[in-house]
Amino acid sequence: MAPYKLHVIVCDDSDCSAKGSQQLYDDLKQFVKDRDLKKVVKVSKSTCLDDCKMGPNVLFYPKGIIYNSVKAENLETIIEAHLRHKVASKLTHHRMLK
Ligand code: FES
Repeated sequence: MAPYKLHVIVCDDSDCSAKGSQQLYDDLKQFVKDRDLKKVVKVSKSTCLDDCKMGPNVLFYPKGIIYNSVKAENLETIIEAHLRHKVASKLTHHRMLK
């Protein structure tokens, strides 16, 4: 199996869940399926990413970038940026890694 280019991790803990993370996760899975990216983009859920007030939060590896208050309409912008090894700099985000 070839390695993925992106691992996208949606926080599904209580605060992010209360702000719609399950729907965002479902939208993300559908986005990946619709664009035939299942061999390129791995989608997972996680427990708390320690940024609860800013949820729903989504972490992108390998860059280690957390996007805050992510909406379904942001997914295309963020994923396309990361597939080009960029960051969607106009959306609220911060680095999890140095
Ligand atoms: S519950 Fe999502 S960051 Fe804490």
